[in-house]
Amino acid sequence: MYQDEIKQEIKTLLKERNAILLAHNYMRDEVQEIADITGDSLGLSIEAAKTDADVIVFCGVHFMAESASILAPDKTVLLPRLDAGCPMADMITEDGLLEMKNRYPGVPVVTYVNSSAAVKAASDICCTSANAVKVVNSLPDGEIIFTPDRNLGTYVGRFTDKTIHLWEGYCPTHERMKVDDVARLKAEHPDALFICHPECNPAVVALADHVCSTSGMYDFCSKSSVKKFLIGTEAGIMYRLRKENPDKEFILASPALVCPNMKLTSLEDVRDALLTMKPVVKVPEEIRVPAKRALDRMLAIPRD
Ligand code: 13P
Ligand code: SF4
Repeated sequence: MYQDEIKQEIKTLLKERNAILLAHNYMRDEVQEIADITGDSLGLSIEAAKTDADVIVFCGVHFMAESASILAPDKTVLLPRLDAGCPMADMITEDGLLEMKNRYPGVPVVTYVNSSAAVKAASDICCTSANAVKVVNSLPDGEIIFTPDRNLGTYVGRFTDKTIHLWEGYCPTHERMKVDDVARLKAEHPDALFICHPECNPAVVALADHVCSTSGMYDFCSKSSVKKFLIGTEAGIMYRLRKENPDKEFILASPALVCPNMKLTSLEDVRDALLTMKPVVKVPEEIRVPAKRALDRMLAIPRD
């Protein structure tokens, strides 16, 4: 009952503020339920760039709200929990990247969107888990620097002839899923397909029947004639998978697949952000302009 009231309050405030609520696929169920749009990093960036709303309430983590601010500088971007960060994004700094660029002069930098605006600004092009292979193969160079996710970079390496210099970052949540977790579940459920995110450790990815972004999972599982899936990504994905495919069974591949940052945002936080119009995420122009260049180069690559 209380939840219904707060959801109604949020809906009213969204209208009053001419705001749109974007939620990442890993958000709590109740936050996904009230979102105007749920999606993966690529999908939400595209929505942020094209919305007519004056306010974007970004239910996700800090780098995602920064991307919205970079792409839609005339909008007010609210991140209901300013402390919702991403440990992988924090594993690389602008200085660290500049040092790596000095080691490989002239080699272009491909940066996963799970990174700060300052790191994007020092990069040539961004990518997401949905388009990383396409982005890397769109470059004419025979060598690239790939940051910050070594696991996504290793995965991309399977689909390109280019030499990839990896930054040694990783997602602690995906890294917690072990080969043993997957092997045990595969033995228990031989009729299931194992689908995983490329942020997983390469030894886990090697066991997958299909590797894709979070939104790619909705697409794959709904189109597949298979009825049972072992899911190798953050637990928030299960909400829509189950809702949209009531005739299918979804099993989380490890109980450790919970990102604490993605679980911070509550309905109360969303309501309070709309009431107070805080916290605002705003990327300063001197960082925004070069970061936008890297994002725009990525967005210019056609989606499948
Ligand atoms: P995607 O939604 O782009 O697959 O990204 C996963 C992720 O870890 C976001 O933090
Ligand atoms: Fe960062 Fe991993 Fe959490 Fe995504 S799931 S926000 S990559 S720590």
